[in-house]
Amino acid sequence: MKETATHPNMEKIISLAKRRGFVFPGSEIYGGLAGTFDYGPYGVALKNNIKSLWWNMFVDLRDNMYGVDAAILMNTKVWESSGHIEGFSDPLIECKKCKHRFRADHVQKKPKKDAQGKVIEGEDVWTCEHCGTKNDMKEPQQFNMMFKTHAGASEDAMTVYLRPETAGGIFMNYKNVIDSVHPKLPFGIAQIGKAFRNEIAPRDFIFRLRELEQMEVEYFVRPDEWEQAFDEWRIRMHEYADIIGIAKDTLHELEVLPEDRAHYSKRTVDFEFDYPFGRKELWGLAYRTDFDLSVHEKSSGVELKYLDEATKEKFIPHVIEPSLGVDRTVLAVLLSAYREDDLGGDKRVYLAFPPAIAPVKAMVSPLLKNKPELVEKARSVYKDLKKVIPQIMWDDNGNIGKRYRRQDEIGTPFCITIDFDTLGETAELKDTVTLRDRDTGTQKRIAISDIARHITDVL
Ligand code: GAP
Repeated sequence: MKETATHPNMEKIISLAKRRGFVFPGSEIYGGLAGTFDYGPYGVALKNNIKSLWWNMFVDLRDNMYGVDAAILMNTKVWESSGHIEGFSDPLIECKKCKHRFRADHVQKKPKKDAQGKVIEGEDVWTCEHCGTKNDMKEPQQFNMMFKTHAGASEDAMTVYLRPETAGGIFMNYKNVIDSVHPKLPFGIAQIGKAFRNEIAPRDFIFRLRELEQMEVEYFVRPDEWEQAFDEWRIRMHEYADIIGIAKDTLHELEVLPEDRAHYSKRTVDFEFDYPFGRKELWGLAYRTDFDLSVHEKSSGVELKYLDEATKEKFIPHVIEPSLGVDRTVLAVLLSAYREDDLGGDKRVYLAFPPAIAPVKAMVSPLLKNKPELVEKARSVYKDLKKVIPQIMWDDNGNIGKRYRRQDEIGTPFCITIDFDTLGETAELKDTVTLRDRDTGTQKRIAISDIARHITDVL
């Protein structure tokens, strides 16, 4: 994809993420571990803001939504019943020569051509991406993506799996929530947590990981109300995208074909984002019918029906599932926020995060760090603001221009500078500071007593 102001290439994002403490390769000093990344100080703050905004919109601001935080390790029967042990797999092919393994659906068969360059029908060629060998692949086989481990110390310790989706833990707590909170339909259970997939080919930075995080809702409805609920969550997902700074024209809905849907879904809409490596899935919205609760009821022997108190009718609710990957969201947000421009004759890079998700909301700084009276005043402004806006930071490293550029690169919306006018060098400017706007680089003077309100209004 062509690089534009709002669409940097991946190298720039990966380099900025590392340089500025957002995302680091996992276990880096040992050469890394494919499919794992670690979040650094600003990455954690950004991720936490993305998650808490999601929780706010999808849980706290709605009625009848309940949170859970289920164990990652679950009884193996959960995954037997849900169909994951049997069917959570990707097609794998292996090059006979170099033994490299690929996801068969990621390796394109290319048409064979004759000497004149004409396509020979029915004679497609597999080419190994690693060693270039043609047509020497083993037959594709299904590879289960669940990570296996053992619970317990005995020889015959039970095989358990790291959950491949957080949804499993939600279904396991459906009955607990009903019995303890007595919700009426429709209601939803939400969870944010880690999931693990032994991806054949982890790739594209934090796009395809082996250890990932999901924000999921299982929304339980009467069977005849699923379409209405599906459309409602679809709108909520677009609203959320908007709030975290993903532009409308970079997000596309894809109606997933029946043959491409997960085994539990009767309808799936993928929300695809224009990544630099192509238009790919960001989030999914699925109609899981009564599949999960039905199979768990059958396998466990525990009744999972809902009793409608009014009609005394008993039935298994149907489920709508908005499922959002945290890491793919972080990547889409970083790509959406990335900007390059010229400011005062200098090229600069900045991240135009919506203030609500910016890892740092404002930076406080004395104009000069070797003037104790400026430092003292700046420290007191910083201390007072931190009580109201915790995601605020102190920076007195290097000259003021360098500090601004650093803050631009981590997407800090405001920089507050304490100068000699703050101390009263110009009488009418006493107790005012300069407030710099990240996107325009312009500065205005504002009274110290007005800063907190100004920033919280924007947030
Ligand atoms: N519970 C439904 C479910 O897990 P999914 O489409 O397999 O559905 C949901 O995954 C979301 O999780 C995806 O839309 C994506 O955001 C994220 N996701 C899935 N696999 C991922 C991976 N290997 N690395 C990073 N994120 C992933």
